[in-house]
Amino acid sequence: MAASVVKMSADRSVSTPMLHAEMTGVTRIYAAKGKTPGVHALGPVDLALRQGEFFSVVGPSGCGKSTLLDVLAGLSSPTEGKVVFEGAPVTGSVPPGIGVVFQENAAFPWLSVKDNIAFGLRREGTDPAEVERRVGYALGFMGLEDFAAAYPSQLSGGMRQRVCIARTLVMQPRLILLDEPFGALDAQTRLLMGDELLKLWRETGATVMLITHALDEAAMLSDRIAVMSARPGRIMEELETGWPKERDSRIASEDHFGQITSRLWKRLREESIKATARGGA
Ligand SMILES: Nc1ncnc2c1ncn2[C@@H]1O[C@H](COP(=O)(O)OP(=O)(O)OP(=O)(O)O)[C@@H](O)[C@H]1O
Ligand SMILES: [Mg+2]
Repeated sequence: MAASVVKMSADRSVSTPMLHAEMTGVTRIYAAKGKTPGVHALGPVDLALRQGEFFSVVGPSGCGKSTLLDVLAGLSSPTEGKVVFEGAPVTGSVPPGIGVVFQENAAFPWLSVKDNIAFGLRREGTDPAEVERRVGYALGFMGLEDFAAAYPSQLSGGMRQRVCIARTLVMQPRLILLDEPFGALDAQTRLLMGDELLKLWRETGATVMLITHALDEAAMLSDRIAVMSARPGRIMEELETGWPKERDSRIASEDHFGQITSRLWKRLREESIKATARGGA
C-alpha cells in the first residue's frame, strides 16, 4: 500500500531534494522464541529521508516505530528489504555519520556529565585537545556548563536528556535518529527541548528523524511527518507541514499548527483504537 502524501501548504515547493537515507520494501519479523510467537513488527515500509530535513514519525503504541529506527540505524537487520545511507547499504552495524539518541535516561550513571559527553570521542581515540573543544562546545550549547562535574543522578530528567543529546552531538552525526527522547518530560519542558533541537538542527545542518507519540511535538518541529498504521507498522500518510526553517515553539499558537495536529489525530485515532483493542505493544 503506497502512503498518501499531503501538503499542508501549497507554496513551499521542495526543489529536487537530495536523498540522504532510504528504506525500500523493509519488513522486520521477530522470530518465535520458545512459547513466544513470532511478531511481524514492521512493514513493508518505503521511506526516503531528504538531506537536511526534519522528519518525524508518529504512530500508535507498539506499531513498530522503535523497530523502524533500529533497522534504519543498523542496530537490527531487516527480514526483507534494503536500507541505504549516503549511497551505501546499511548492514549489521551503525555506520559512521549516524547518531542515535535513545529513550530517556540512557546516560552512564558512573560517569560525570563531561565524561558522558566525551565517552564516544575518547573511545574513537580522538585527540584530547579536540575532545576538550567539542565537549566544551556541546556543554555550552546544551546549557550544561555549570554541571560538567555533576553525575546524572544529580540532574533533572530534562538535563539528563540534554546530556544524551550532547553525547550524540559531539560525534557530529550527519543523520540524527531520536527515539521518543522527551517522553518522560512535562509539556513545557518538552516544548523548550524542542526549541533546542530545532536550533541544533539549524546549526549543524544534519538530517533529523524523530520518533514521537506526541502529535504537537511532531507538528511543531517537522518539515515532514510520517503517520504509521497499527502493527505491522506501515506508513499510511506523509504530510508536509510547510513551516519555514526559522521556527520555534511559538508556532504552536498558529491556526496552521492546529490544522496539522487535527489532521494527524484524524489519521491516528482509528489506528490507536485498533492497537488498543488488541493490547497495544
Ligand atoms: N527484540 C524483540 N523481540 C521480539 N519482539 C519485539 C522485539 N522488539 C520489539 N518487538 C515487538 O515488535 C512490536 C513493535 O515494537 P516497537 O518497540 O518497535 O514498537 P513501538 O512503536 O516503538 O512501541 P512504543 O510506542 O510503545 O514505543 C511489538 O509488538 C513488540 O513486542
Ligand atoms: Mg518505541
